[in-house]
Amino acid sequence: MKVGFVGLGLMGKRMARRLLRAGYSLVVHNRSRGPVEELAREGAEPAWSPREVAERVDVLITMVPDSPDVEKVLFGEGGVAESGKRGLIVVDMSTISPIKAREFAERLRERGIEMLDAPVSGGTIGAEQGTLTIMVGGRREVFEKVKPILSVLGKKITYMGGNGAGQSTKICNQVAIAGALLGVCESLLLANASGLDPMKVIDVLSGGAASSWQLINLGPKIVERDFEPGFKASHFRKDLRIAREIGEELDLPLLGAGMVYELLKSLEAEGLGEKGTQALALVLEKLASRRIG
Ligand SMILES: NC(=O)c1ccc[n+]([C@@H]2O[C@H](COP(=O)([O-])OP(=O)(O)OC[C@H]3O[C@@H](n4cnc5c(N)ncnc54)[C@H](OP(=O)(O)O)[C@@H]3O)[C@@H](O)[C@H]2O)c1
Repeated sequence: MKVGFVGLGLMGKRMARRLLRAGYSLVVHNRSRGPVEELAREGAEPAWSPREVAERVDVLITMVPDSPDVEKVLFGEGGVAESGKRGLIVVDMSTISPIKAREFAERLRERGIEMLDAPVSGGTIGAEQGTLTIMVGGRREVFEKVKPILSVLGKKITYMGGNGAGQSTKICNQVAIAGALLGVCESLLLANASGLDPMKVIDVLSGGAASSWQLINLGPKIVERDFEPGFKASHFRKDLRIAREIGEELDLPLLGAGMVYELLKSLEAEGLGEKGTQALALVLEKLASRRIG
């Protein structure tokens, strides 16, 4: 199968590179040209629009920020739908609204194009090492067709149900992360206020019931004042905005997710939305008038 990749940011570039190295013939496109040229030097075929990618591949993966970005790639000017390529399979691996995921799949199906939502968890490390967790929504037979491609990108790949089920699962994931990350930041502030060495606290906690991906991967970065993004704070706020919308629709109180959403709003107001999610610690430091590390 020939594969296309649209959206070569922090995640997409690493995922596309894995597919290339696994031997897939790959056509790539991105809004800015830098990453397209970089991957072209490594053997990918460059394209100038999502439409052009669609015309040249069997499976087209999208990895862009939010629902409006996916909509633009699919239905905008020069978008996938303009290709009129019946039989194409679109796999959207971005994190977007499950409602939009269902809507986009229906609109594409009317044009003879199948779509799966297949968002991921595992960060840039997972993207690089091919160890992402992938949660898939759509028709099962379409999922079976693209599973070999997904296997290059992820380790735990699970079919969750019809269109939107992958995105709904991803939002559950983000709600769980919100609580874990807030806990890590508060715990490190407490360590500091108690006169403890925060790195030593991380080491001890990682061996017990408080261990988590957030603690192990982001805890040391917070202590070392490394706020560069693996996962941008603005994208995390977008995910929690989606969680809140779903919470409204289902009449479900999501207290922790709501609180972290508001804290991220404050972080963005400081102009720090492009920092990594670990920069949440900066807002909490301000509230406590203390520094971690
Ligand atoms: N980073 C993580 O750890 C992580 C983990 C799991 C899931 N996710 C999700 O994965 C998605 C991508 O995340 P990311 O961290 O890779 O984001 P990112 O670094 O912001 O990359 C997004 C990429 O999409 C490109 N893009 C945007 N609109 C486009 C369009 N209309 N046509 C073509 N390309 C377009 C951007 O191009 P430009 O170069 O022009 O900006 C950029 O290269 C998001 O939904 C995010 O929530 C991220």
